[in-house]
Amino acid sequence: MSILLSVHDLRAYYGQVQALHGLSFDLNEGSMTTLLGANGAGKTTTLRAICNMVRSTGAIQFEGKPLNGKSTENIVRLGIAHVPQGRGTFTTLTVEENLQLGAISRKDVKSIPGDIERMYDHFPVLKQRHTQQAGTLSGGEQQMLAVARALKQRPRLMLLDEPSFGLAPLIVRDLFGILGKINREDKVSILVVEQNAQLALEIADKAYVIETGRIVMSGSASEIANDESVRKSYLGY
Ligand SMILES: Nc1ncnc2c1ncn2[C@@H]1O[C@H](COP(=O)(O)OP(=O)(O)OP(=O)(O)O)[C@@H](O)[C@H]1O
Ligand SMILES: [Mg+2]
Repeated sequence: MSILLSVHDLRAYYGQVQALHGLSFDLNEGSMTTLLGANGAGKTTTLRAICNMVRSTGAIQFEGKPLNGKSTENIVRLGIAHVPQGRGTFTTLTVEENLQLGAISRKDVKSIPGDIERMYDHFPVLKQRHTQQAGTLSGGEQQMLAVARALKQRPRLMLLDEPSFGLAPLIVRDLFGILGKINREDKVSILVVEQNAQLALEIADKAYVIETGRIVMSGSASEIANDESVRKSYLGY
């Protein structure tokens, strides 16, 4: 299996504060990999460093080529879509306008209507609500819109920062079911950061645990789920 994303000795800084202390991990092509960790462990910072949104050192390679020094915009163009913590949709635009916006940067404008229909297949609720202002959607609906917008970029890799945050358990199951489908059917590799470790470990194939800016454990999702210290710290049983 080939490595799609490789992160080696990543260190990240907010001014004088160092948030990542030499973090390394790989993500295989086609994989759904999860990064777990407590509040402040450095999960969001890791995703931001991959997208060059925070000052960092270390080697990040995507499809074997270095990302270091590339702008966030160019990193997105290479096929990495980032759904940040707290979502990020245009609240005063309708659902459909948000989906159209996601497409404007693409050259093949003709495929936009087809792409939007594909998103509506994945997220039927967005079709029902296509004329509604994004800011008035429920939390779960907004999260689905944010994922749909990221998918419109036809990424090879999607970075998701706590997609379950603030959502009711049933909605979370729904959303993760759709993410699994996108991973399998659309062949989009996924790196998902989660505090909901139980669900993330059910759906992911590989998992890493971060503590204060370092990877402290890695393995298949089932190995990690069965590890006693992980169960105590993150799964609560
Ligand atoms: N803009 C910032 N300025 C200064 N320090 C920051 C900034 N953003 C994050 N940090 C610090 O960096 C460390 C890692 O934060 P990060 O947001 O990556 O954690 P996280 O694992 O995503 O946590 P959470 O689960 O709460 O979202 C924390 O100690 C945090 O206080
Ligand atoms: Mg975070």
